Amino acid sequence: MESIVFDKKVAIVTGAGEGIGREYALDLAKRGAFVVVNDIGCDQNQVRTADKVADEIKKAGGRAVASYDSVTTMEGGQNIVDTAMDHFGKVDILINNAGILRDRTFMKMTEQEWDDVIAVHLKGAFCVTRPAVKIMKENRYGRIVFTASSSGMYGNFGQSNYGAAKMGVIGIMNTLKLEVSRYNIKINTVAPNAATGMTQGVFPDEVAKRIKPEFNTPIVTFLCSEENRESGMIFTMSAGWFARSAMVSGKGTCIGDTKRPIKAEEVRDKFDQIKDLKDALPYEHCGEIYSLGKPLTGR
Ligand code: NAI
Repeated sequence: MESIVFDKKVAIVTGAGEGIGREYALDLAKRGAFVVVNDIGCDQNQVRTADKVADEIKKAGGRAVASYDSVTTMEGGQNIVDTAMDHFGKVDILINNAGILRDRTFMKMTEQEWDDVIAVHLKGAFCVTRPAVKIMKENRYGRIVFTASSSGMYGNFGQSNYGAAKMGVIGIMNTLKLEVSRYNIKINTVAPNAATGMTQGVFPDEVAKRIKPEFNTPIVTFLCSEENRESGMIFTMSAGWFARSAMVSGKGTCIGDTKRPIKAEEVRDKFDQIKDLKDALPYEHCGEIYSLGKPLTGR
């Protein structure tokens, strides 16, 4: 099997002090990447987790630098990218992984809980990605991974703030992939799953043992590699299961002739067909879906 290598590629991993991000950073470094290990966190002894991971990489013979900036401000995002530029001279890979939870049911959620979660996951993705893309465009090369969650794609009790932020990054990806495609910048999103600090107490012990953070790494490593040609996709994974997830539109049905008004009652009478997802297609094929009904060209 030919190895995936990152010879002198420069990677930024946010939230890499522990959990899933730490595994991404270790694997990229092991394969030759120079890594900016970004994290605001400290362990119980007040040792910076970013330092611990950067040291671990260096001890193993790799190259890494710690960064303690928060992803939540433009200044922080710029500093993270500047750290890569100052130490390694470029940015080839960005994994937007930093995350927090502030769970509360929607009706009880405070403005602070809403803002804090949006700030890290959604605004944070903007703040770091923008300065990184500037460099990637200049170098005409980039691999970016955003981190979503099944909580956003399918819902999870008490996580409307988190779910909104996680779907938001998919919105960024869908547009950004179009805006940067001619610069050989590939952008994808993953929805991981793991027993980590973030999910402590969520999974029963038996399940927790099987959903190790490192099982999320292989697909992210591949998506960050030069070999990866895909952009704009969402991948969901857990304990060695990997699958593509997608926004799809059903075949639907056409009502009227584009010249007369359409009544709500006509929609009601065809509602079963409208909501049917049989033969649904991902969004990049929506053109095909529209042409099936030929809504603009008449029938
Ligand atoms: P974790 O809590 O172990 O790691 C997240 C890291 O992000 C922490 O080290 C934390 O200090 C850091 N961080 C938080 N705010 C930051 C900020 N403002 N700037 C820089 N770093 C910051 O969590 P885990 O489980 O490793 O999660 C990683 C990513 O995967 C997160 O985006 C999370 O939302 C996502 N995810 C995790 C799932 C799971 O099952 N663990 C499920 C779905 C998504």
